[in-house]
Amino acid sequence: MNSKDGQHRWWHGATLYQLYVRSWLDTDGDGYGDLGGVIAGLDYLSWLGVDGIWLSPTMPSPDDDWGYDVADYLGVHPDLGTMDDMDRLIAEAGKRGMRVLLDLVPNHTSSAHPWFVDAAGSRDSGHRDYYVWADPGPDGGPPNNWLDATGSPAWSWHEATKQYYLHNFLASQPDLNWWEPAVHTEFLEILRFWFDRGAAGFRIDVAHGLYKDAKLRDNPPETGEGPLAGHFGQQPSYSANRPQVHAVYRDWRRIADSYPEARLLLGETWVGDLGRLAGFYGNDDELQLAFNFPFVFASFAAPDMSAIVAKTLARLPAGASPAWTASNHDVGRFPTRWCDGDERKIRLALLVLATLPGTMVLYYGDEIGMTDVGVPLGLRQDKMTRGGTGWQGNRDRARTPMRWDASVTAGFTAAAVAPWLPVGDNAAVNVAGQRDDPASVLGLCRDLLSLRRAEFGGRVAGYQALAAPPGGWAYRAGALTVLANFSDRPVTCQDPGGPVLLSTTGTTRPAAGGIALAPWQGVIARPGG
Ligand code: GLC
Repeated sequence: MNSKDGQHRWWHGATLYQLYVRSWLDTDGDGYGDLGGVIAGLDYLSWLGVDGIWLSPTMPSPDDDWGYDVADYLGVHPDLGTMDDMDRLIAEAGKRGMRVLLDLVPNHTSSAHPWFVDAAGSRDSGHRDYYVWADPGPDGGPPNNWLDATGSPAWSWHEATKQYYLHNFLASQPDLNWWEPAVHTEFLEILRFWFDRGAAGFRIDVAHGLYKDAKLRDNPPETGEGPLAGHFGQQPSYSANRPQVHAVYRDWRRIADSYPEARLLLGETWVGDLGRLAGFYGNDDELQLAFNFPFVFASFAAPDMSAIVAKTLARLPAGASPAWTASNHDVGRFPTRWCDGDERKIRLALLVLATLPGTMVLYYGDEIGMTDVGVPLGLRQDKMTRGGTGWQGNRDRARTPMRWDASVTAGFTAAAVAPWLPVGDNAAVNVAGQRDDPASVLGLCRDLLSLRRAEFGGRVAGYQALAAPPGGWAYRAGALTVLANFSDRPVTCQDPGGPVLLSTTGTTRPAAGGIALAPWQGVIARPGG
C-alpha cells in the first residue's frame, strides 16, 4: 500500500527522541554508552511518552567523527554492542510501542571502508569511481576552492595514485560519488537490509549533500550571514546542494513505502531557505520529514519564531509534517542557546515545541533542561571542532553524558569509571531529582507529551496565528490555544475562552480583558472546552 493511499503515518503529531548512544547509559563499564544502555532506558522513554527514537550512528567506525565515518553499513559498532543487541533493542522498543530510527551516512564513508581502501589501491580498481577523484588544478594545487568542515581545502592529495580525493568533512571521510550508479545500488541494499530487520526508518546525514557539481565549479562567496548562509566565507552551492539529490530520495521513498508500515526518511537538510526545505518533501514522494534549521537558529523571540513557523507551514506541501527540533549533537542544546539556562525560558521552549503542528524531536536531556557543558580543551573528543573556531563551535559541549542522578558519574557509568566526556557540574539537573516531582521540567515535559499525543497523535494539526500583545505569541493548534510570553515583562493576552489545561508556571492569573502571563510564561487552553 502506498502511503498516499491513507497509510498510517505514525510520526504525525509524534515525539521523536534523538539519543546519542555513547552518552546515554554505559552498561559494560568502558565509559561509553551502549545499546544495552539504550535497552535499559526504554522504560524511561516510554514513561516520558516518546513515540520513536533516533539513534546516533551505530555502525562500525574508526570514530574520527564518532560514527559519522562509517566503515561497514551493515554492522553494529563493537563498542556499542552486537547485531543481536540491535535486534533486541528494536524488539523491546516495539513492545513498548516505540519505533527505532538509525542514522544513515550516505554523503561519505570512512577512509577505512573497504570501498575506499580498494579505490585508493589503483586508478583501475573496481571501486575507484565510488569516490570523487580529480587531477590538480591549473596551478598544480587542489582542483577548486572548496573547503571542508574544518576550513581547510576539501581535497587531499593521494600520492600513490597521483590524484586528489574530495572530503567535505575530515580527510578521513572521503565523499562518495553519487554520479556512479553502483553507489545507488549499494545504498538501496543498505536500506532494505535495515528495514527488513525492523528499523522504522533513517535520519539521513547531510541530506542536502550526496551529489557534487559534475564540473567541480568553484563555490561562490557567502552572501548572507549566520550558520546557514555558508561556512568559511563560501556558499556550498557546488560542493553540495545539487538538484540531482531529489531523484535519490524518490527512489528511497519507493522502498520505504513498499513496507506494510512505511519506513520514515528524516533528512538533515541544512538549508536556510524554507522553499528549498519544502523541496525535500517533493510531491509527497521524497522525504517525509526534513529538519528545519532556520527554526533551530531563530532568536528566542516571538516575532522571529512565529514568522518562521508561519513561513514554514505556508511553504510545505499540503499534508506534510514539519519537524521541530531545537537541540542536537552539532548545534548545541536549546536550554543554553535559546534560554541561557533560565528555567522559565526552558519551560516555555518545551511548551512551544510540543504544540507546533507536526513532528517534535527532542534531544536527550532536553526533557530535564540539560544545558551545554564547558568541556576543557584537554578532554575534548571531537576532532572536527576541537580547535573551537569552526562554524559550529565546539560540539562536545552537547554530547556529554545523560544525567540520571546527582552522583559523581551522574549515574551514566559506574563510580570508578571515567566517562568519555565529563558530566559537567550542574548536578542539580538530573532525572532522579525530577522524576517524582510533577512540578519539575521533566514533569512538565511529560505532561506536554501526553497532551500532545492525545490532541495531535496521528495527524498534522491545523495552525492559526492569533492576535498577541508585543512580546507575546498566540496561536491555535488543532483544538488548543497557546499563549506564550517571550518577554521579561508581564503581558495580558486575550481570554482563550476555555479552561487552561497546562501552564509552565503551574498557575494562571485572570486579568481585565484576558489572562495575565508572567515573564516567559506559556499556557495551553482549550477554547470552548
Ligand atoms: C552531520 C552530522 C555531524 C557530522 C557530519 C559529517 O552534520 O550531524 O555530526 O560531523 O554530518 O557526517
